[in-house]
Amino acid sequence: MIRIDILTLFPEMFDGFLSSSIIKRAIDKKLVEINLINFRDYSKDLHHKVDDTPYGGGCGMVLMIQPIYDCLNAIRTDDSLVIMLTPDGDTFKQRDAYHLRDVKHLILLCGHYEGFDERIRNLVDIELSIGDYVLTGGEVASMVITDAVVRLVPGVIEEESHLLESFNNNLLDFPQYTKPRDFNGMKVPEVLLSGDHKKIREYREKIQRERTFERRRDLLER
Ligand code: ADE
Repeated sequence: MIRIDILTLFPEMFDGFLSSSIIKRAIDKKLVEINLINFRDYSKDLHHKVDDTPYGGGCGMVLMIQPIYDCLNAIRTDDSLVIMLTPDGDTFKQRDAYHLRDVKHLILLCGHYEGFDERIRNLVDIELSIGDYVLTGGEVASMVITDAVVRLVPGVIEEESHLLESFNNNLLDFPQYTKPRDFNGMKVPEVLLSGDHKKIREYREKIQRERTFERRRDLLER
């Protein structure tokens, strides 16, 4: 079973995420264990402070290293991979999700506030960003990564559903249709109604290539 520990100052942000849909089912089926750990509990400060003003001046507060250092020391093992969520990390991709699903123990560290003490970088194995924009903290990013990884854990969803989906083989997904055959003049492509599986497969592959070329040429160039 894969274990994911999420280090956050705002565990309540995860309530809906962990109690709904496929993630909840994966937890209930014991395919994944997800723990929320508030690293404020590891602060040695009398008032459980976790941040302070920046040396050299500037606005905002900076996350201190001590609570995170002690928290990581308490939970990390030889099986752990510690990931910090930060906009200046490597951009998270589907292939990273496949890689991370094979790690026994993921520790996701969510920064918050205006910044963190640079020395925290020395405590982590990798830094990941979910895209080129700045969030208020790493919480949403850690949910994105957890979601993308957990759905790839065997037994969580049907293997076939992710073998054919977008980004595998660097191609976008093919379009899907369901009833009715004609909705206000918008028709389902005839080939999908033909029952000819070879033709259907060829049609879908063609659309995948065309669509990837039109929308995401960068994927084809990889
Ligand atoms: N924290 C703030 N912005 C982020 C981003 N884009 N990705 C990961 N963590 C973040």
